[in-house]
Amino acid sequence: MTHPPLVEARNLSVEFHMRRGLFSRGPAPVVQAVRNMNLSIQRGETLALVGESGCGKSTLGRAMIRTAPIAHGELIFDGKDITTLAGETLRRARSRFQMIFQDPYSSLNPKARIFDTLAEPLRVHTSESTAQIRTKVSEMLEAVGLDPTFAARYPHEFSGGQRQRIAIARAVIVQPDFIVADEPLSALDVSMQLQILKLFDDLRDRFSLTYLFISHDLARVFSFADRVAVMYLGKLVEIGTAAEITTNPRHPYTKALLAAAPSPDPTIEADREVPMLSGDIPSPAFPPPGCRFHTRCPIAMEMCKRIDPEMTHFGNSHMAACHAAAPGLSHLNTPEPEKDLLP
Ligand SMILES: Nc1ncnc2c1ncn2[C@@H]1O[C@H](COP(=O)(O)OP(=O)(O)OP(=O)(O)O)[C@@H](O)[C@H]1O
Ligand code: SF4
Ligand SMILES: [Mg+2]
Repeated sequence: MTHPPLVEARNLSVEFHMRRGLFSRGPAPVVQAVRNMNLSIQRGETLALVGESGCGKSTLGRAMIRTAPIAHGELIFDGKDITTLAGETLRRARSRFQMIFQDPYSSLNPKARIFDTLAEPLRVHTSESTAQIRTKVSEMLEAVGLDPTFAARYPHEFSGGQRQRIAIARAVIVQPDFIVADEPLSALDVSMQLQILKLFDDLRDRFSLTYLFISHDLARVFSFADRVAVMYLGKLVEIGTAAEITTNPRHPYTKALLAAAPSPDPTIEADREVPMLSGDIPSPAFPPPGCRFHTRCPIAMEMCKRIDPEMTHFGNSHMAACHAAAPGLSHLNTPEPEKDLLP
């Protein structure tokens, strides 16, 4: 039996209305940061969200915990429509979803002791006594691999990895269902990244968490995520299990990201020529018509400039939006052999 998703975005769009330039005519531009997004995450699942800078990952993550304005569409959380939840009901719901950021230093109050940083969400969201809060803070510090006596210290007394552990403890202490982790590894060195990934894994099992894990590093998330969603210029272009995306990517953009991902083997990595995606990402205020990727796609066809491809199924959980990958046209995805090499 399939269970209903814990979080579901239905046709969700987020727009930012920009100011019109002093000398420009016409309406003020609207940045389409997230466009008609359909995405669901099952309870206990880790969904990795990848894509280049500016494609809308953080905005989607924030929209999914109701901290970015939803222009159109619906957000369903645990079976309830929370798109327009406001006031006290939204405040109460907030303890069920939390966010962890890239830079733990700027997300921790430098003037607050770690105890107060961890106690604050409990004071806001629960009616627990001071003694109960003390116990919980100690237990949570232990759960993230820190000594409970660290509660008396300040953020500047810790290393980057330890600070990220504290930020994770602050998010998990209210026992949320859903955590959006926005590039939580980017500020850490490689060995620390692996330790923090392991911590995310342990905490998911121990506290029954569900993650939306945002990363620009495809290679890093494959071993950790159940499914991977690839975003380009505000839209979802491919989604599938980590295995489906690595071994059988369907969208040219996913293929380009995979080709650019560093190899875990340093000797291979040193000799590798990294194929870069050519061209700049177009402005999300003026996205290209048709397929948004057509201005950079190595196999773009005439129809791509006019017709926006729909998401097509390639298996139970594997979907991609590309005319050339659609069944019946998939031969177009293989480059033609050079004519003079033919016998
Ligand atoms: N508050 C805002 N006001 C106006 N535009 C915004 C705002 N937040 C994001 N944007 C724009 O929305 C688009 C998506 O931004 P977002 O930060 O979600 O991308 P991202 O994929 O997280 O990028 P990065 O990998 O650099 O973090 C960008 O063009 C960005 O400039
Ligand atoms: S729809 Fe066309 S332009 Fe878009 S990714 Fe597929 S082939 Fe490339
Ligand atoms: Mg971001």
